[in-house]
Amino acid sequence: MSTVTHPGRDERMPAARAEAAIRCTDLVRIYSGDGVEVQALQGLNLQVDAGELVAIVGASGSGKSTLLGILSGLDKQTAGRAVVAGRELVTMTRAQRLEYRRRVVGFIWQQTERNLLPYLTARQNVAMAMGLAGTPDRERRSAELLDLLEIGRKADRRPSELSGGEQQRVAIAVSLANDPLVLLADEPTGELDDATSVEVLEVMRRVNRELGVTTLIVTHDPTVAEHVRRTVLIRDGRTSTEVFRSHGEGGEHATAEEFTVIDRSGRLQLPAEYVSRLELRDRVRLELEPTYVRVSSAQRAAPESAAGGRHAATAPAELSERAERVEGPEGVSDRSVLPERAERVEGPARQGEEQP
Ligand SMILES: Nc1ncnc2c1ncn2[C@@H]1O[C@H](COP(=O)(O)OP(=O)(O)OP(=O)(O)O)[C@@H](O)[C@H]1O
Ligand SMILES: [Mg+2]
Repeated sequence: MSTVTHPGRDERMPAARAEAAIRCTDLVRIYSGDGVEVQALQGLNLQVDAGELVAIVGASGSGKSTLLGILSGLDKQTAGRAVVAGRELVTMTRAQRLEYRRRVVGFIWQQTERNLLPYLTARQNVAMAMGLAGTPDRERRSAELLDLLEIGRKADRRPSELSGGEQQRVAIAVSLANDPLVLLADEPTGELDDATSVEVLEVMRRVNRELGVTTLIVTHDPTVAEHVRRTVLIRDGRTSTEVFRSHGEGGEHATAEEFTVIDRSGRLQLPAEYVSRLELRDRVRLELEPTYVRVSSAQRAAPESAAGGRHAATAPAELSERAERVEGPEGVSDRSVLPERAERVEGPARQGEEQP
């Protein structure tokens, strides 16, 4: 594996490594036109640590590309904050925005042809991205990057002479040309077959690991979650649940833990499956227990605490057990998107519970 150098990284963002690479707080994006308003992001919260690789999944229209558009500096939020590598995106001047897009973030689009200039070879595409940002040592560095992405042998081919997967590898090299702190990929494998997708994702994982570049990959392929440690699900313009996956020795014993995201006001979203299985609607009953919050249907009879709190008698035991308990996030205290104590949810909603 070749070594890729980091020109000018430290001067650009000395403090960025110490804090979160990406922090979105109550991010709102409303598109308006023809008298119709679309709330694409409805108060999204997300924190990604420096060097992390995170998959963003969610149904079509959930706001994934909108989020990436904002983080890439192409679009601006309507409200809320987005801070990337220490930069407050909304207040950047035009010049700062241009510099940000050239040197702080790298971007990979789904459409392979959108990432590369068709009349330039792979090597020239990478070198051109460096030329735009004034990055020195173009020839050596583009060769290093193409080698890192295992496409060095085909460096002198044009995009039309490369397969879709190879084009995406070149696109990743281009996105890394100016040694960005953050890499944003919107459906980078959307046009590839399954086997090639896995390869491209594997390459992105390796780039993340070896170069330490914070990476956000948007996809609507739920199987991507199997390849990354942290997957964030966006639903209706908000981060809804997160899955943390840990691999045992040799990677064969993968375990996944699912968390729901709680915002600064204490709001959280229950998985749709839980809501329908336990027929939760209008209002739910919340009870604060020493280490967890019990959530149950207000329509049902009061819980029998003596019988272990199984008050959703019609639901399968395992599901009711999981749905009823919002556990404190023991063991994930490094995730500041999760609250210190899950019990905070009891605040506002509890008042509703008092009503008949
Ligand atoms: N420029 C725009 N003008 C108006 N509405 C928009 C615009 N871009 C996106 N939207 C709307 O905002 C919502 C979120 O769109 P977005 O493209 O972020 O979804 P997505 O999660 O990326 O979906 P997909 O998986 O299909 O790519 C959708 O309802 C979409 O129709
Ligand atoms: Mg999209």
